[in-house]
Formats: sequence, C-alpha cells, structure tokens
Amino acid sequence: MDKLIISGPAKLRGEVTISASKNASLPILTATLLSTTPVTFKSLPKLRDVSTLFKLLKNLGATINSDDQNELTTINTTPISSLEATYDLVKTMRASFLVMGPLLARYGKAKVSLPGGCAIGARAIDIHLEALAKMGAKINLQGGYVEATLEHGPKRLQGNEIYLSFPSVGATENLMMAATLAHGTTVIKNAAQEPEIADLGEFLNRMGAKVQGAGSAEVIIEGQESLLFSGSPYVVIPDRIESATYLIAGVMTNSEITIHNINAKHLDAVIATLKDMGAKLEIDYDKKIIKTLLHQGLHGTHVATAPYPGFPTDVQAQLMALTTIAQTPSVITEHIFENRFMHVPELNRMGANIVLKGNSAFIDGQSTLKSAPVMCTDLRASAALVLAALAAEGQSEVCRIYHLDRGYEKIDQKLQTLNVDITRVPGDN
Ligand code: UD1
Repeated sequence: MDKLIISGPAKLRGEVTISASKNASLPILTATLLSTTPVTFKSLPKLRDVSTLFKLLKNLGATINSDDQNELTTINTTPISSLEATYDLVKTMRASFLVMGPLLARYGKAKVSLPGGCAIGARAIDIHLEALAKMGAKINLQGGYVEATLEHGPKRLQGNEIYLSFPSVGATENLMMAATLAHGTTVIKNAAQEPEIADLGEFLNRMGAKVQGAGSAEVIIEGQESLLFSGSPYVVIPDRIESATYLIAGVMTNSEITIHNINAKHLDAVIATLKDMGAKLEIDYDKKIIKTLLHQGLHGTHVATAPYPGFPTDVQAQLMALTTIAQTPSVITEHIFENRFMHVPELNRMGANIVLKGNSAFIDGQSTLKSAPVMCTDLRASAALVLAALAAEGQSEVCRIYHLDRGYEKIDQKLQTLNVDITRVPGDN
C-alpha cells in the first residue's frame, strides 16, 4: 500500500484550491438513478469513494463517460438492468446504501447489502428503513441484505410525514430521493441540515423535483411522476471538510496560505473555534477565499461534535492534532460516532499527551511533536496524522494512505504546491 513521507516542521506558503465535496457528490451521484435523461457534471472530485460509486452504478447497468480535458462526466442510468448492490462494494463504502431510496422509488424494488460496521462505529441504518417502511416499502432483512419492495403492488411509494429520531445525514438523503417520485407529499421533520443536503436538494430540483427546505430541519417534497436532468453541467459544492483540513494545516504550521473555492458560510463552527484558539484568518465570503495569517500562539479549546451547524465530527481528529500544540489544555467530546478516537494512540506516539475518558479526549497541549511511522485507520484520522507530521520535527512515514485517497483529492500534490516536502511511495495494493 502507498505511504507518504513528510518532512517537518513544514512552513507552508502559496495557494490551494478545494475540490468538490465528497459527501455531496456521493448522494448526488446516486440520485442520477432517478433521471430518465443523462446527467452531466463538471469537476467531480477524483476520489476513491467516487470511483467506488461509479463501479456500483456501472454494476447496476449505468454508463459513465468522462471528458477529462473539460472535466465533464456524463452518467446515463436509463440502461439499468440490475437492482442489487452487492456486498463487495457496499462494505467498502457505507454511502453505497444511498442507492436504496432512488432504486426503490424508480423501480419499486431494491436489494442492497447491509453496510455493517466500520472502524469508527456500528453505523446502523434503522432510521433509513423505518422511514422507507412508513412510505409503504416492505423491508426484508435476509442473508446480510436488505430487500425493499412496494407493499401495495408495483406502483409508487406513498408520501408521509416522517419524524427522524436522530437527524441522520444518510437517512435524510435516502428519504429525500425516495420521496421525489412518491405519490403525494413527504415532510421530513428533524432532518439533517448539512450543506451537502441542501446541495442534494438543489440537484434534485434541477431534475424537476419539488424539494423545499433542504438544509433546514424540515424538508418538504412533493412527489413527481418522473424526473429528468436538463441544462448546464452540475457543479457540486466545495468540500467543507477538506477546507477545514487545509485551514488547520495553515494554522498548525503558523503559515500564510490562501485557500480558494472555500465556502466560509459552511464552516462557522470550525472558523469560530480556530479564532477562539488564536488563529488569524482573513475571510472573503463572496470570492470564496480564506487566508491563514501568522498568529501569536494558540490556546486550547473545549469542543463537542454535533450535527450541523455544530462542530463537524469529520473535523474532530484534525482539530485534535492542532490542540496537541496549543499552549493550554483542551477537551474534545465526540457525540456522533462511538469509536472515533483511533488517531489518539498514533498522535501520542508522535509526542502528544492525550487521555481518553468515555467519549471525551483530554489533550494536554504544549507538545513538541516528533516524527514517527504512523498507521492510518480511517479517513479523517489519517488527515490528523498528516497534520501532525507537518508540525513534527523529522521525517514521518504515514502508512496505509488508501483511507486518505478515499476523501482527499491529490493530497500529496496539493501539499507540494504549498511548499511541503512530501513524497508518495507506491506500495503493493
Ligand atoms: C455522513 C457522512 C460522514 C459524517 C456523518 C455525520 C457521507 C457520505 N458521510 O455519514 O462523513 O461523519 O454524516 O456528519 O455523507 N445512525 C443510526 N441509525 C441510522 C443512521 C445513523 O443509529 O439509521 C447513527 C450512526 O450510527 C452514527 C450517527 O447516527 O452514529 C450519524 O450517522 P449519519 O448522520 O447517518 O451519518 P452518515 O450518513 O453515515
């Protein structure tokens, strides 16, 4: 497997451009299953998770054509011939389960492997299934698969009012997609409010869906007979997690860098936390640019992850890397995933002093990070290790980086343009 060799401490300079959001692209790509016409995208992120979803769509019978020169991708889901998402693909990426809503809505039937657990937690799908059942789906769990069919003949799902017991991002997305072709109106209450959901709503409306309130706690979807994509290629929103990671890279190395294609409005909690810690940022909301400026040292912080607009769980690990070098202690509490602290032992091996108690991490701060060989365990934990390696003295080896390639487009090349001495060493895959 590939690894990264990073020399630190790094002083970053220059400019970097944020790619399109992974977590918005994945549901939007599954939503192409709803369109009776081909869908064209501009500048999709080149990520392992996106390739996995392409593979899944192709397995279902879709055709995908890329025009690399113009960064265009066209997906045609009219030749769909299979309604089954198999274990080998779903197990590598939980977001594959998002094909359930669109397949069921358009074809009245879907068989999708249960995603199972992953390194950061059990990641159940009960909320997805309960909601689809309320819309008339008959759900059968058998042999590690979820089979959903329409209970009342081969017609349509039925709109309903659905209260989510937790604002699950995936359940909100699956349900929104399912509801676009349902009979009648669906109201999702206590919906997840992440910007990626607003983007999915925008995309569904581009296909002629009637979705209101996506990105707020109540989403109303008036079901349509059919959907078709038309007009200019769709451009997915910038990745707010990649944005936060580069922001922290600039702050952690006390460097001046300019980050382009960054939507600061999606980063309120992260920006407020960084500023409270002493970071200096120059934000241009309209031009979508943030510059990190030199600061006079950082204080610790107390942060708890929460559904949007709270502090994102996907930035928890990266923030923790930053707090290890703050001048005062920090406490970070994880409320979304039960096991999302696998970066802690690795950060401690690099000289951090972090103690875990339940779902809280107590970080001493004031650590002088030292290079070490470290192992990536999941996507965002890997990003935290790269950040620590940037600040650490010496040459760090970050192993098993296929996790990073799932969610960070060309991370080695982007860091190189920011003046980092970083090399990718190819390994056996
Ligand atoms: C999405 C993001 C992921 C992010 C997470 C939370 C994508 C592709 N992934 O994941 O990067 O970390 O949101 O912001 O967009 N849960 C249940 N039952 C369910 C559904 C969820 O108990 O039916 C629990 C999960 O186990 C987890 C929590 O709710 O503990 C959050 O899950 P959810 O919001 O659904 O996250 P994902 O959509 O999987």
